[in-house]
Amino acid sequence: MQITVLTLFPEMFAPVQESILKRAQEAGLLQIRLVNFRDYAISKHKNVDDVPYGGGAGMLLKPEPIFAAIRDLPQPPGKRKIILMSPQGHVFRQEKAKCWSDLEELVFICGHYEGFDERIRELADEEVSLGDYVLTGGELAAMVMIDAVARLIPGVLGEDASAEEDSHTDSLLEYPQYTRPADFEGRLVPEVLLSGHHAMIKRWRRKESLRRTFLRRPDLIKAVTFETDDYPLLEELVLEHVEIAPWKTLWEHLCPPPKRRRRF
Ligand code: ADE
Repeated sequence: MQITVLTLFPEMFAPVQESILKRAQEAGLLQIRLVNFRDYAISKHKNVDDVPYGGGAGMLLKPEPIFAAIRDLPQPPGKRKIILMSPQGHVFRQEKAKCWSDLEELVFICGHYEGFDERIRELADEEVSLGDYVLTGGELAAMVMIDAVARLIPGVLGEDASAEEDSHTDSLLEYPQYTRPADFEGRLVPEVLLSGHHAMIKRWRRKESLRRTFLRRPDLIKAVTFETDDYPLLEELVLEHVEIAPWKTLWEHLCPPPKRRRRF
């Protein structure tokens, strides 16, 4: 996959040249190209920003350098998406990372300063935000998104590592994990994990995944597709946690209130 970043601060991208992403680039699974769009500024002083028409605080990115930088990109062999980093975009989620990981090229446009000229929006296929807060620029947000996408490219996490069971895949948080020792200062690893009984381990993991999601992120539950085998687990969990408020949501999901008949 080719990732191209249009930025005024290419030197900020050192973190994506390290560790797993570095190895992915060395293995030819990922190329990261950094384009400083100041190089496309048309004025003598290479200005990339200007004051807003109508007045107001701060400076806005001018359209010409960004349009010129996009027009100068070589055509990718396959599907490309141009992403505008902006706190006004829809919030980045795991499904989006999964969907982007199948593309041939992703182009991130990183704004800086107070904002950008509205016409820059025309270039973008999508406008995406890292979260409901405002950063000084799109660079940190783009790095987070690059990391989330790159680890889903087949081969990037190595042969035996799988992203299938990650938190947020299927809208569920991942189950608790343990490694040796089985007894750490009296804190024991759940016995089922030592049993070698694969079906029981699978059941335990699914149940703990459901428990975690309900307890920590009940807001995610509406997007979960429950399987038939989940119902006995959900019933057990309701009994184990009757005192906890989020279970009300679960209970309502399991036993939806009967539809009221309309009275005429
Ligand atoms: N630029 C400024 N704030 C941002 C945010 N929350 N997400 C993406 N880009 C941004």
